[in-house]
Amino acid sequence: MGKITLSIIKADIGSIGGHVKPSKELLETVENFIKEKGKNLIIDYYIGHTGDDIAILTTHKRGPLDSKIHKLCFDAFMEGTKVAKKQGLYGAGQDLLKTAFSGNVKGMGPAVAELEFEERKSEPFLFFAADKTDAGCFNLPLYLAFTDPMFTPGFMLSPVIKKGFKFVIMDVSYTKADRIIELVAPEQIYDIAALLRDPNRFVIESIFSRATGEQVVSVSTTRLHNIAGKYVGKDDPVMLVRTQKNFPATGEILAPYAISPYVSGFMRGSHIGPLMPVKKNSPISFFDGPPIVSCLAFSVKNGKLTGPADCFDQPLWDFIREKAAQKAKDIREQGFYGAAMLPYSELEYGGIVKTLEKLEKRFIIRKKK
Ligand code: 13P
Ligand code: 13P
Ligand code: MG
Ligand code: MG
Repeated sequence: MGKITLSIIKADIGSIGGHVKPSKELLETVENFIKEKGKNLIIDYYIGHTGDDIAILTTHKRGPLDSKIHKLCFDAFMEGTKVAKKQGLYGAGQDLLKTAFSGNVKGMGPAVAELEFEERKSEPFLFFAADKTDAGCFNLPLYLAFTDPMFTPGFMLSPVIKKGFKFVIMDVSYTKADRIIELVAPEQIYDIAALLRDPNRFVIESIFSRATGEQVVSVSTTRLHNIAGKYVGKDDPVMLVRTQKNFPATGEILAPYAISPYVSGFMRGSHIGPLMPVKKNSPISFFDGPPIVSCLAFSVKNGKLTGPADCFDQPLWDFIREKAAQKAKDIREQGFYGAAMLPYSELEYGGIVKTLEKLEKRFIIRKKK
């Protein structure tokens, strides 16, 4: 069969009633476009939404960053944007920051996560999509699942998993090119932790098995405000994770999401809120949030998808959602103050910066008597 590629390309191209969810017509337009124009290009596809973001998953044999696959998805979003405009949806075409297509969608606005591999006999993988947050939201769950036997007993029980994993971490504040560092677990877990402490700057981009060299994880690392030069919505990342056998089990990858860690995003992309695990095609509500993450499990054989199984549609996660709701309410009692909002550096492009600059000029040094 040779190698197959999984590609997720995701964009916010407009939504109903604010940043809530895309319309049915929007989803249908994107799906019909992929079905028709992708006929001789892709093997299979799945389309869904998380909050106001539409994600297209395709399987094909063309490798990552393929211009035809990327253009197919970009054009589907362009087609969808026409419908969004017709319906007067909010933020129509929001994530299509550049429209002249050149090679692939990286740097154009949409988020991308891709994995190319030789299929195993049985090939399970997970498709994560988050809304009202950025790629740093995956830092802690990935760190725990790929280093800690509290979450992945595979480190004790499987000699292959015990060999550990290589983390590729990106400095997303560097905008001229990809600035990355490779660190290995378990030997360098404290160095990894020292970087991941700052999820606004350092983001896990990929993870590789040290036993087999295979790539296990791919995370989108788009920084919309770096492309647009101003705030145009949160990055709302996607992620692919292969599971089982030589990799952590599906349940081990999912376990850390029960923490509902506080992440960047929420209202106007400028706050801190708990990451709530939600069912597929969930909308957004309270305070343009809370930040949400969905996870769909698939099996793939010769590029054909079976699934999805909705990982967070299970009674345990109802309990976690209640906990996350409580955490969301708790931090909202802080209003704009201290830990409830992101640091100044993350507000860099907002109107608040201009306000603060103006106020800065009005400060005076009081003369000593
Ligand atoms: P594997 O079949 O991938 O080893 O999975 C083990 C398991 O029991 C999952 O919890
Ligand atoms: P999105 O990035 O999901 O469009 O959200 C934007 C926003 O500002 C919500 O308050
Ligand atoms: Mg939006
Ligand atoms: Mg969004």
